[in-house]
Amino acid sequence: EFEAKVVKLKNSIKNIPDFPKPGILFRDVSSLCQDKDAFALSIDMLYEAFKDEKIDMVVAAEARGFVFGAPLAQRLHAGFAMARKPGKLPRSTLEESYDLEYGTSTLQITEDALQSGQRVLIVDDLLATGGTAEAMIRLCKHFDVEIVCTAFVIELFDLGGAVKIKNDYNIETFSLVEFP
Ligand code: PRP
Ligand code: ADE
Repeated sequence: EFEAKVVKLKNSIKNIPDFPKPGILFRDVSSLCQDKDAFALSIDMLYEAFKDEKIDMVVAAEARGFVFGAPLAQRLHAGFAMARKPGKLPRSTLEESYDLEYGTSTLQITEDALQSGQRVLIVDDLLATGGTAEAMIRLCKHFDVEIVCTAFVIELFDLGGAVKIKNDYNIETFSLVEFP
């Protein structure tokens, strides 16, 4: 049953060679979102995984992380905090920089985004090297919160993000669809 659902999600994801750079096989989550059943299934499966975890806040990264983070937060009846690329947030921010599979970037979060003692779920569409997730973890660590897990629709496991997050932060990762 679970495996059949995973296959449905996997089949909805288109694979684009050499995007955005030569040698990168791009796993395009936009084709999953365009399939109404696959999109609903992805949120249902994430909800099932975390519904009993008493999540207070979901933190997700611009832009693709918002696509899954916001509907999941609403299903969990949690708040939603946006980690954004620099210069987008109008109030005082905290920031962390990180490396990507195909570049480097910075994320910012509003300095009052989280409250002491909250249980936080970090969400993104895809885990590659883990740089983005690591930046979100470091943003959350500015606050006195419990990071329950980092959750993804897609994990590219050969890039080692889950191992890095476990080794460096002792935080678990959860993903629905795995590719090498
Ligand atoms: C992609 C993806 C993840 C990140 C994963 O975002 O949505 O956030 O890369 O890679 P990592 O594990 O190596 O950090 P991208 O930075 O391309 O931005 P976008 O969401 O705005 O498209
Ligand atoms: N983000 C980082 N690496 C990616 C990949 N290979 N496909 C889609 N999004 C990504």
